[in-house]
Amino acid sequence: MNSSLQLSADGRLRHLLTVEGLSRGLITQILDEATLYTGGGRKLPLLHGKTVVNLFFEPSTRTRTTFELAAKRLSADVLNIQVAASSTTKGETLLDTLKTLEAMQVDMFVIRHEASGAAHFFAQHAAPGVAILNAGDGRHAHPTQALLDMYTIRQHKPDFTALTVAIVGDVMHSRVARSDIHALRILGAKEIRVVAPRTLIPSHIEAMGVTVFNELDAGLQGADVIILLRLQKERMVGAFLPSTGEFHRDFGLTRARLAKLSPDVLVMHPGPINRGVEIEGEVAYGERSVILEQVEHGIAVRMAVMGLILGSEELQHENRRQRAPMNHAPR
Ligand code: CP
Repeated sequence: MNSSLQLSADGRLRHLLTVEGLSRGLITQILDEATLYTGGGRKLPLLHGKTVVNLFFEPSTRTRTTFELAAKRLSADVLNIQVAASSTTKGETLLDTLKTLEAMQVDMFVIRHEASGAAHFFAQHAAPGVAILNAGDGRHAHPTQALLDMYTIRQHKPDFTALTVAIVGDVMHSRVARSDIHALRILGAKEIRVVAPRTLIPSHIEAMGVTVFNELDAGLQGADVIILLRLQKERMVGAFLPSTGEFHRDFGLTRARLAKLSPDVLVMHPGPINRGVEIEGEVAYGERSVILEQVEHGIAVRMAVMGLILGSEELQHENRRQRAPMNHAPR
């Protein structure tokens, strides 16, 4: 897939389709912009008069709602299309859906689809000036998840070059894993590990610059950050595992396993979690977990991306000028 589609000739973000191909400078700019919005605060006029459509062909709790909140906090009008009640169920194609909604003067589409490449397809066919944000396409990419993951890591451990990050679980089916690996590499992480049974490791993943571990305790040894992945049963065709019980025994993060690791290791998970499968419930909400911080940061990071793409230069400048008051806004 052509990642240059998302950048204008002068290197600015036009769409956000994948982390691949973004520069360290641009990712850092997005994370820095997100600090403007952390902690809630008053509504900002950055996207006043703009219309954002959420078009989710797969279920979502976090991504859809935080995109909606982000757009509303920037004063955009937001349409949430109920795909199950839309004309796609009568056979309308993705292209005709795009063109129909574009005719309503939409400025930005946030799209999630089960097909890898769906967001690229939208970006290729979108009218000039219409932005596409990928909210997850098949196994391919989930760029805003990776950005909010990097934001969350940076809040606790600012020097990526000192970090060993273990990505654990269903790497095979995970768009989050792919996007996180790209982001961590771009930001210069010291070591990126993928830890999973052989059946859940994609072939040739070492080419992405990761080290593969097929045993959990070895993969977690010395890690600064653990990113657990959901076992994606809905994307599995055939038997990848003997049972979820065996997966939990061999690859689940439990209190006992966590107790053997550094006391300041971060435990992350994009959600939704399978309690008792990839993670014990007590660990998911334990003191090393930043899972709910990840959710909260999703709003700020998505505001940053939307603002950079759609906000006028003048309003962006004014927004940055007011940065200090925003950071100290009461919750
Ligand atoms: N992390 C994530 O994409 O969660 P949702 O499926 O709830 O949006």
